[in-house]
Amino acid sequence: MPLTRKAYRAAILHSIADPAEVGIEASYEYFEDGLLVVDGGKISALGHASDLLPTLPSDIEIEHYQDALITPGFIDTHIHFPQTGMVGAYGEQLLDWLNTYTFPCESQFGDKVHADEVADIFVKELLRNGTTTALVFGSVHPQSVNSLFEAAEKLDLRMIAGKVMMDRNAPDYLTDTAESSYVDSKALIERWHGKGRLHYAVTPRFAPTSTPEQLTLAGQLLTEYPDLYMQTHISENLKEIEWVKELFPERKGYLDVYDHYKLLGERSVFAHGVHLCDDECARLAETGSAISFCPTSNFFLGSGLFNLPMAEKHKLNVGLGTDVGGGTSFSLLQTLNEAYKVMQLQGARLSPFKSLYLATLGGARALRLEDKIGTLQPGSDADFLVLDYNATPLLSYRLKQANNIAETLFVLMTLGDDRTVQQTYAAGALVHQR
Ligand code: GUN
Ligand code: ZN
Repeated sequence: MPLTRKAYRAAILHSIADPAEVGIEASYEYFEDGLLVVDGGKISALGHASDLLPTLPSDIEIEHYQDALITPGFIDTHIHFPQTGMVGAYGEQLLDWLNTYTFPCESQFGDKVHADEVADIFVKELLRNGTTTALVFGSVHPQSVNSLFEAAEKLDLRMIAGKVMMDRNAPDYLTDTAESSYVDSKALIERWHGKGRLHYAVTPRFAPTSTPEQLTLAGQLLTEYPDLYMQTHISENLKEIEWVKELFPERKGYLDVYDHYKLLGERSVFAHGVHLCDDECARLAETGSAISFCPTSNFFLGSGLFNLPMAEKHKLNVGLGTDVGGGTSFSLLQTLNEAYKVMQLQGARLSPFKSLYLATLGGARALRLEDKIGTLQPGSDADFLVLDYNATPLLSYRLKQANNIAETLFVLMTLGDDRTVQQTYAAGALVHQR
């Protein structure tokens, strides 16, 4: 157990604010020769090695990483655990992709043996990629959430998940009812929400697959329990948006459906939002809701380009999501590589420090967990990564040409992936060693 003090010496970088709010220079702290001290699963000190070393007891164990960068663990604000087996499915956009590939794959998660096996693969894959916290969709089966939380609990990970609620417009083998989804979600909340570092998210899949009765009960759960999360999808695909208009003709638009059923709030995270308008961004921001920006998925499913500058204009909380299996990589480094291209295609830029923010503190803020994760501030959970500058021959050669931490960071995000993550620590314990 990591209940003793230990120190880690390396170059250390973390976000401390949103570059959109404070400017790039004030948004991060970088220690070229830094020291991170961990005590009982929490960070107890961070600073320059030269300042901190004299303050430490002489017998403290110090791990010294050369040619490496310590950062906070990455935070994935949107991912589907039961889609692990269908990542990279060919040729369809959202609605056909769901029917052809997604629903059949998700149908297997009522089976405990299968769900346990995939939960193990999924959690290992998160950690291999440096993701220490994720907001996760299960399948419609409560078993999917039990398997995932059991796997996360063994490693004391901070994870948020929920059972999908969907009672229409999906195959019979994969639908619940408004009543059963309420009862099943409630049982999972009672069992898991607030246990260790686990949190529950009420999870209506998206407006088309829930009846008004089910959306009403989803809203009711949020009022019954404090601090519950809510996750769903919004305005990802143009055909989807037209469908929502047909299904809810009395509502002003897609967001208004969720607003009507009281699903907006400080712990509500809406995936995608590619086609949101100004008014919808303003309403999301006003209610403290967050968007999960999923660039890899938005490219892969041909959904469109997320307008990050518009979200920034409204001071909307934005986290980064892989959206596996619509997204094709568990790596938030690769997801940032795609995010950069989304901005380029809109004539804008994504600075490496804004990218770092999105993958760490921005995600933590979207999840209202910034006092616990997303930075390396003393008092935070000791969830951090060691990124290896020599992970591949090309990365090693390229980084030797880098002149400063901004360039190093950008190259890590364009060339880096799971191979770059040398160690992952959660609550001070080593949970992945490459
Ligand atoms: N909208 C509704 N369900 C899904 C899903 O599983 N993935 C994505 N990307 N969008 C969705
Ligand atoms: Zn999704």
